Amino acid sequence: MRTRNIAILVAALTAACGDDAGSGGSGGEGGAPAAIAFSPPGSLVSAEGKGSFRFGAATASTQIEDQNQTTDWWAFTAPVAEGGLGKGKAPVGDASNGFSLALEDIALLKELGVDSYRFSIEWARVEPERNVIDEEALAHYDAVVDALVAAGIRPMITLHHFSNPIWVADPRDNECVNGPSDTNLCGFGNSEGAPQIVQEFGEHAALLAERFGDRVDEWGTVNEPVNYLLAGYGIGSFPPGQSNILTEEKLLGEFIPIVQTYLELHAAAYTAVKMNDVIDADSDGSAADVGFTLSIADWVPARDNLVSEDPEDLAARDRVVYIYHHLFLDAARTGEFDTDLDGEPDKTVPGVAGTVDWLGLQYYFRSGVTAKNPVLPVVALTPCFGTIDFGACLPPVGGDKTKCIPAMKYEFYEPAVFSLLSDFSSRYPDLPLLISESGLATEVGERRAEHVVRSLEQIALAREAGVDVRGYYHWSLYDNFEWAEGFEPRFGLFTVDYASYERTPTLGATVLGEVAKSRELSSEQRTTYGGLGPMTEETGAVIGERCNL
Ligand code: BGC
Repeated sequence: MRTRNIAILVAALTAACGDDAGSGGSGGEGGAPAAIAFSPPGSLVSAEGKGSFRFGAATASTQIEDQNQTTDWWAFTAPVAEGGLGKGKAPVGDASNGFSLALEDIALLKELGVDSYRFSIEWARVEPERNVIDEEALAHYDAVVDALVAAGIRPMITLHHFSNPIWVADPRDNECVNGPSDTNLCGFGNSEGAPQIVQEFGEHAALLAERFGDRVDEWGTVNEPVNYLLAGYGIGSFPPGQSNILTEEKLLGEFIPIVQTYLELHAAAYTAVKMNDVIDADSDGSAADVGFTLSIADWVPARDNLVSEDPEDLAARDRVVYIYHHLFLDAARTGEFDTDLDGEPDKTVPGVAGTVDWLGLQYYFRSGVTAKNPVLPVVALTPCFGTIDFGACLPPVGGDKTKCIPAMKYEFYEPAVFSLLSDFSSRYPDLPLLISESGLATEVGERRAEHVVRSLEQIALAREAGVDVRGYYHWSLYDNFEWAEGFEPRFGLFTVDYASYERTPTLGATVLGEVAKSRELSSEQRTTYGGLGPMTEETGAVIGERCNL
């Protein structure tokens, strides 16, 4: 399938860009690339919405909001002297001051010219203590939703984006020797606490759906489930900071039940929103369009840090694709879950079937995976993630180091936007897709502009090939707290001065704004920023660091 998609891509790019398909879009014998028009935004799930296209930006509450003192990230990252664990590269602290500046930030969206905004509501702010609802927090989000609607910007709310109230899982008390209590339900892995968390998250989702459903139709339950659980419960780099994957017993006995809990949490939220958001705010015939977002990667068979054709590595690639891309999604669609990771579902999880109206795809990197000396039992593979290199990490395609994202140690490979969209479309032809995040960490405006234009070119090719992808949300509206990586990676369309919290547009914002306002990627923009060739070099403090090698 992958080879076929690459062939379609090359043919389509050649047709669309003349001789210039792979040269970086600088004109050439084939002439300037043609402008690409994008249709107006429309319904996310209805048949009428097919062919529509929205332009948006995305954020998440913990990453932007100041003083979220009741989140697990606060406890995880605050200095030890202040009662935290001092983990990660920096305390989350005031993040980007995005709670205090929430209404001003809506003016940024308006200035940008996008029609949609994906953001999350902080469960820990709404329910700072178990069963205690903070009306002021709800009033704050009410004002945000009102301001978005007044600005003509379509809100999409994520319910769970990598964070919890401390009482859900206190990272300072992972042992939980006294069992679940009102101040610590002991997390998704505790057999007594987990069902409580699922139920109470469902109640939280119901509250938000009831409160905001008259103005909001689009809801995401969870963000990047497998990624999130691997970080929080697999290797422990996110709160609660548990490590459960390095033996077969732990992987199947502890981690997989946690994935099942998270599946149930997703389904509880789906059902709660469907039942409580009964007002069709945008009159498209559907009051609540509920889906979730998935981290996807361009997985490549690897061995000893080179691309591999060894059948064992090819099989390892297929296994990682299955686990990373399909395990959770397939279960959310069919209700059947594969608890032993053998590729065949073996357990029906009640209430889970049919809980995906739309799917958000989030592609950031190309990455290797090897079967040699596998570190993960059962699935018998080792993936490359950032700096975790056991021979699976690869040099960039064609040695083009300009595609490396130094702050994150990974490679952005444009053609994968097309091939991954095509793969998902072939496997789930009935499922409306979105690019719910797309971005890169850089301090160079040209690079962000190139990323925007090249991603949109690939999306346009996929649309031409019949893929039902209905929008693009740039990650992120402005620089923010990049979880365990702290504040160094800058993903913002607007860059943030962390002393004054002033937001300044990057060239990426200018270019995306022009595209969003005109609904056209111009020939000039494509010539300047598009194509597949080298990107502008990174500069500044991070220039010396390249991918993994
Ligand atoms: C997450 C964001 C994160 C971004 C960049 C995605 O995995 O949803 O929260 O900031 O990637 O790393």
